[in-house]
Amino acid sequence: MISDATVTELLKRIGKEIGIVLSRQSDHDRVARYLENGGVLPSKDRPLPSELITLVTTNETYFERESHHFDYLLNTIFPELDNEASSSAIRILCAPCSSGEEAYSIALRIMEHSRRFVRSIEVIGIDISEEVIDKARVGRYSQRSIHALSPQIVSRYFIHEERDYRILPLHGVDVRFQAGNVFDIALWNQLGRFDVIFSRNMMIYFDKEKNRELLTRFKEHLNGYLIIGHADDHLQSREMFTPLRTDKGNIYHT
Ligand SMILES: C[S@@+](CC[C@H](N)C(=O)[O-])C[C@H]1O[C@@H](n2cnc3c(N)ncnc32)[C@H](O)[C@@H]1O
Repeated sequence: MISDATVTELLKRIGKEIGIVLSRQSDHDRVARYLENGGVLPSKDRPLPSELITLVTTNETYFERESHHFDYLLNTIFPELDNEASSSAIRILCAPCSSGEEAYSIALRIMEHSRRFVRSIEVIGIDISEEVIDKARVGRYSQRSIHALSPQIVSRYFIHEERDYRILPLHGVDVRFQAGNVFDIALWNQLGRFDVIFSRNMMIYFDKEKNRELLTRFKEHLNGYLIIGHADDHLQSREMFTPLRTDKGNIYHT
C-alpha cells in the first residue's frame, strides 16, 4: 500500500524539478494509481521515470496552432533577421515542442514562403517527455493533428501511412529534436543562444516562481523574440521583456 505522504512527496518533487503544479485530488489519485500498479518510485538521486513524466504532462498540440504566430515569424521577424549582416544561421527554439507539430509548422511555412532567405534557418524542439520527442523524430501524425493544414500542403509534404501521415524530409530547413528539461542549466549551456523562442502552452502548468525561473533562462539565451501562448504567463513576461504591439499581444522582445 502506497502512503499519502509518499505520493505527496513525489508530487512536490515533480513540481520542484519540472515545474508542473499537481495540487488537485485527481493528480494525487493518478500518481497513487501509477505507483500501486507497479510504477517506479524513484529514489532521490535517480531521475524521474519517463512513464511518470508522460503521466503528468499534457502533450496536446497540432499543426498551425495559434497560426498568427507563424504569420508574424515569416512576414516580420525573418525579413528583419535576414537583413542583419550575419553569416550565421537564424536559430529558433520551440520549448516545449511536444510531438513536433510546432517545429514542423515553422519549417513548412519556410518551405512554402515566396521569399528565399539568405541566412540558413535552424529549428530546435525540446521537450521533457522522451515519448513525444521520439514521436517528433518519426514525424507520423494523425488526421486530427494535421487538420489545420491545407490538402495541398499535406499532399506535398506527407505520405499516407495506414491511417496516419508521415512528414517527408524537409530539405533546406534544419529541424532537430532533443529531450530535456527547461530547468536544466546544463541543457541550456549546450543549446546556446537563439534569435526566437516559442514557448507556448507550458507556462500555464507552472507556478509564478517557476515561470520567473524559466523567463530568466530565456532572457539569458535569447537575443530577439519571445512568443508565448495566449494563456501563458503574460504578467511576468511583460515585466521582463518588451511587449510588441501586434494584434494578439503575445509577442515580446528582449
Ligand atoms: C501542451 S504541450 C505544448 C506544445 C506546443 N508548444 C503547443 O503549444 O502546441 C506542453 C508540453 O510541455 C512539456 N513540458 C512540461 N514541463 C516541461 C519541462 N520542465 N521541460 C520541458 N518540457 C516540458 C510537456 O511534456 C508537453 O509536451
